[in-house]
Amino acid sequence: MKKHVVLYKKLSPELLARLQAEAQVTFVDTTGPEGRERLRQALPQAHGLLGASLKLDANLLAGASQLQAVSSVSVGVDNYDLAYLKQRGIVLTNTPDVLTQTTADTGFALVLAAARRVVELATLVRNGEWTKNIGPAQFGTDVHGKTLGIIGMGRIGEALAQRGHFGFDMPIIYNSHSPKPAVDQRFNARHVSLDSLLQQADFVCLTLPLTAETEKLIGARQFALMRPGSIFINISRGKVVDEAALINALQSRQIRAAGLDVFEREPLDPHSPLLQLDNVVATPHIGSATEETREAMARCAVDNMIAALRGETPPNRVQ
Ligand code: DGY
Repeated sequence: MKKHVVLYKKLSPELLARLQAEAQVTFVDTTGPEGRERLRQALPQAHGLLGASLKLDANLLAGASQLQAVSSVSVGVDNYDLAYLKQRGIVLTNTPDVLTQTTADTGFALVLAAARRVVELATLVRNGEWTKNIGPAQFGTDVHGKTLGIIGMGRIGEALAQRGHFGFDMPIIYNSHSPKPAVDQRFNARHVSLDSLLQQADFVCLTLPLTAETEKLIGARQFALMRPGSIFINISRGKVVDEAALINALQSRQIRAAGLDVFEREPLDPHSPLLQLDNVVATPHIGSATEETREAMARCAVDNMIAALRGETPPNRVQ
C-alpha cells in the first residue's frame, strides 16, 4: 500500500504527479487562523510531511504517530524542533544549492537599492515629486570598490562574495566559524573577527542560519561598532538581529541605511517603525522567490521525500 504524504505547500502539476506516483497525497491549506488546526487533524495519517514557512513544533507533531520524514522546501531549518525530530527518528531534509545564486541576487539587489536609494527615489518619481534636477540631498553612495563584510560564509555568503569581488571590485572580509582558504584565494578575501568586520565593512551582510547560537547576534553593541556611513543587509533570518536596536541605529543615523528581506516577525507589521524610515529598503522575504528557483526547490523537496519514503538516504538529509 502507498504511504501517505501531507503537503502544506502547493506543488506544480508535474511535481504533484511525480509525488502521487509514489504516495497518496493530501493537501492542507495552512493559511489563516484555523490553518494549524487543519494540519493537526491531517497528521495522524501522515508518513511524510512536505512544505515550508510554518513552525512545526513538538506540540503540533505529537499526533503524527506514523511520521517518518519531513521535507522542507527551504534551506533554513529553523522552523523545526531538531532535537524532537531526532529523538523520534524522523528524517529531516532541506533544499540547499538550488537557491544559492537567486538568494545572493536578492542580497546584492538590496546592497544596490540601499546604497543608491532606489526605492526612495523611485517613489519620489512615482509620486510626481520629481519637479527639478536632484541635488546632494538625494545622492546615494558608491558600491563599487567599497568593503563588503559577510557574516556567515556558507554557499550564499560565497555567492555574494563572488558578485562583490568580480562584479564590483570590492575588498571582501568575512566572519565564520573558521577561515576558508578556498574563499580567501578565489576572492582575495580575509577572515576577521566579528567586531573587526563591523568596524571595517562599508556593507555588513548577514547570511548565516538562525540557531540558538546566532539568535540576536547583532544588537546595540554591534551596531555601535559599525562605521557611521555603513549599510546593513539581512537576507538570513530576522531573529539573528535585535530589531529594536536596528531601528535605533537607523533612526539615529548611527548607520546609513538597511536592506532587509527578513524580520523578527513575518509578515512585517505595517505599523513597524522600519517602514517609517526612508533609509530602509524592506522586501517580503523574497530571497529565493523566483519562478525557476521555487520550482527547483520544490523538485528537490519531492525527490528528498520520495527517497526517504523508500528508505533510501535522501540527497539533502539534514539529520
Ligand atoms: C530558505 O530557503 O530558508 C529561504 O529563507 C526561503 O526563501
